[in-house]
Amino acid sequence: MAEKYEIRRFRAAEKGVPGYEQGTDWIQAVGFGFHDTRRNDDYVDKIMAMYRTDGRELTGVYQTGAVAQHSLGASVPVATFGTLRRDLNVGYGRQLLTHMVTAVTVRGTHRRQGLLRRMMTEDLTAAKADGLAIAALTASEGSIYGRFGYGVATFERSIKVDTGPRFALRHQPSGTVEIADRKVLLELAPEVFERVHRHTPGSIVRQDAYRQNISGTVGRDGNEDEAIKCALHYDAAGAVDGYVSYKFAGWDTKPYTVEIVDLVAATDDAYLELWQFLGSIDLIQRVSWADAPVDDPLVWALADPRCVEASDHRDMLWLRILDSVQALGARRYSAGGRLVLEVEDALGFAGGTFILDVSGGEASVSGAPAGAHPDLSMDVADLASIYLGAVCPVTLKAAGRIREHTSGAALRARLMFAVERAPHCLTHF
Ligand SMILES: CC(C)(COP(=O)(O)OP(=O)(O)OC[C@H]1O[C@@H](n2cnc3c(N)ncnc32)[C@H](O)[C@@H]1OP(=O)(O)O)[C@@H](O)C(=O)NCCC(=O)NCCS
Repeated sequence: MAEKYEIRRFRAAEKGVPGYEQGTDWIQAVGFGFHDTRRNDDYVDKIMAMYRTDGRELTGVYQTGAVAQHSLGASVPVATFGTLRRDLNVGYGRQLLTHMVTAVTVRGTHRRQGLLRRMMTEDLTAAKADGLAIAALTASEGSIYGRFGYGVATFERSIKVDTGPRFALRHQPSGTVEIADRKVLLELAPEVFERVHRHTPGSIVRQDAYRQNISGTVGRDGNEDEAIKCALHYDAAGAVDGYVSYKFAGWDTKPYTVEIVDLVAATDDAYLELWQFLGSIDLIQRVSWADAPVDDPLVWALADPRCVEASDHRDMLWLRILDSVQALGARRYSAGGRLVLEVEDALGFAGGTFILDVSGGEASVSGAPAGAHPDLSMDVADLASIYLGAVCPVTLKAAGRIREHTSGAALRARLMFAVERAPHCLTHF
C-alpha cells in the first residue's frame, strides 16, 4: 500500500492562498463519502472559513501513481479524516482536552485496503505524542470503531411529543419566553451553550458550524435557511439562559409538527419553560427532537408522561482513552475506594494495570507493581464506556466484557464512576 497511496495533512487555507484548492477537493471528497449533493464554491468557502475558526487538521489519502483515465484526478483524496481539539466535560465540571475525529470517509472503490486503519493508527499516535489522553468520535455504524479501542460513552434518542390537549407540565414558570430573530443565535447560542457545557457531563465544546446552522446563517445547502425560527428563555432577572431553534415541518406533515433544530437550556427551569412554550404553539400537534437526552426531565414533568413517544435509542459519543493514568486522574469521583484495574489495549496506547485510589472525590492514579492482583480486567474500549458514568460496569460484567476478580468490584466501580447528573452530549461532529 505504501507505494500506492500517500497521506497528506494540512490546514484550511484562505481563498487565494496556495493550498485552498487542496482544501476544496478534500471537502468535496467528504461530501461524496456521505452522499451529499456537490457543494457550490460559495458553500465550500463558508465551510473553509468555519474550519479555520475550528483549527481543524485535514488528512487526505492520495493516489501516487497514474489515476484511471476519466476518473477523478489525483488531487481528490480517496480517503479523508478530520480532527479538532476541544474540551470534554468529564463530570463535576472537570475538563479534559479531547482529540475529536470527524469526516472519516474512504472512497468505495478504495475500501478494505487498510486506509482507515492506517489513518486512525497514525492519527491516534500523533494525538498521544501531543500529550492528549482521550479521543472522541460519533459513528455512522456501530461495528467500525471498537477494533480501534473506542467505546460507547453517551447515548441519545429521538422523541415525538404530543402537544395536543393532554400536554401539560407540572411546573410553575419562573421566567418568560419570547420570539427573537434567528440571527441573534449567532452571538447568544455559544454563550448559553457554554453554561450548559459546564454542568453537563459528556458535553463537548461545539465547533463553529453549530451557531451558523442553528441560526439559519448557513443552512443545509449553504444558503440562509429562512425556515428557522427562534425563541429565547429569560430568567427572572431578564437574562437569556436558554433557547430553542426550530422549524415547522410543513402543511403536508400530519399531525402538524414543529422540529427542534437545537434546544439548549442552562437551567432546569429554562428547559421546562421552553417545553411549555413548544407545547403552546398554535396549530401544532406534535414537537419532534432527534437529539433528545435518554434521561429526560421532560417525561417526569409532564402530567401525562405518555405524551412522549421515544424511539431510536442510540449510541452517541464514542471515546478512546490514550493515556489511562491521565484520563482516570482527570476525573472527580462520586465515591471513595480503591480499585486495581487491568486494561488491555491491542494498539498499545493505554494498556497496563493501574491503581485508582479515591478519597474525598479526588483520585490518585499510579501503575500497579508487577504481579498486582487486579479487581477488574477490561478492554480499553470498556474503560471508555464506563468513564463518563453513562454505562454501568455491572452490566458490562454481565455481558462478559468486564471480568470481575474481586467480588463487588464492578458495583464499586459503578458508584465511583457515577457523575452528578445524567451525561448527555449535545455536540455532533
Ligand atoms: C467505514 C470506512 C471508513 C472503512 O474504511 P476502509 O478503508 O474500508 O477500512 P479498512 O480497510 O482500514 O478496515 C479496517 C478494519 O475495519 C473493518 N471495517 C471497515 N469498515 C467496516 C464496516 N462498515 N463495518 C464493519 N467493519 C468494517 C475492516 O474489515 C477491517 O477489519 P480488520 O482490520 O479486522 O481486517 C469506509 O467504508 C467508508 O468510508 N464508509 C462510508 C462513510 C462512513 O461510514 N464513515 C464513517 C463515519 S463515522
